[in-house]
Amino acid sequence: MAVGVFDSGLGGLTVLDAVARRLPEVAFVYFGDNAHAPYGVRDAEDIFQLTCAGVERLWDEGCDLVILACNTASAAALRRMQETWVPEGKRVLGVFVPLIEALTERQWGDNSPPREVAVKHVALFATPATVSSRAFQRELAFRAIGVDVEAQPCGGLVDAIEEGDELLAEALVRSHVEALKRRMPKPEAAVLGCTHYPLMAKAFQDALGPEVRVFSQADLVAESLADYLARRPGFTGSGREPKFLTTGEPARVSDKATQFLRRRIAFEAA
Ligand code: DGL
Repeated sequence: MAVGVFDSGLGGLTVLDAVARRLPEVAFVYFGDNAHAPYGVRDAEDIFQLTCAGVERLWDEGCDLVILACNTASAAALRRMQETWVPEGKRVLGVFVPLIEALTERQWGDNSPPREVAVKHVALFATPATVSSRAFQRELAFRAIGVDVEAQPCGGLVDAIEEGDELLAEALVRSHVEALKRRMPKPEAAVLGCTHYPLMAKAFQDALGPEVRVFSQADLVAESLADYLARRPGFTGSGREPKFLTTGEPARVSDKATQFLRRRIAFEAA
């Protein structure tokens, strides 16, 4: 019983942590493509090729279901993967939809026409590739009307987090929030649309102020995965071993991961 969790690097560990807590009976195999992170500055073709290679590696581990715990891959590659690449009997799911369902107060699978929702002004913080894909706005438009989204591409932030440079990451969060607030002075909600950003959740909340509700994905994705597996128990796959795989340098990636999650994580070479 193994489910794959894919990210360009360390950010997906925020999702891994939440799904492992929510589903302790499932073995998760994590794949971090640290050698090629960040994805957020790459073009869509590149992101597609790298994501497919990582997902294939997870299939080799006996994972029939893979969660793309990466907004950039979900935004730039997932639709093409589902339409042209994922073979029969396998599934690849992204992290956008659970978040948008929470924001628009919808239950899973509620495909009714878009309607007005309580939140009208939403700040989206994401990588440059996610912002330019406009995937968030597209998914939102299927479900809600009259929501104004202001998106801030947070250049440099994933690098700072991957490097473990917290001071730089905090300074970047402050400057990206300021830049966004110049265009949308009073957002009601903020979406951390990159799985690396929950590691800086406090800095975002401090810079945005207590009146802004900050949505991050990990727990929402965990709930949605639990629901999916309850409906399709066959997708827990044949693998049994929890594992952490990286295309980067395992000792270095393990140290950073341990620092982020504050528990010992041992990566092995993918
Ligand atoms: N953590 C990923 C995301 O959610 C990828 C960031 C990156 O590699 O640029 O977007």
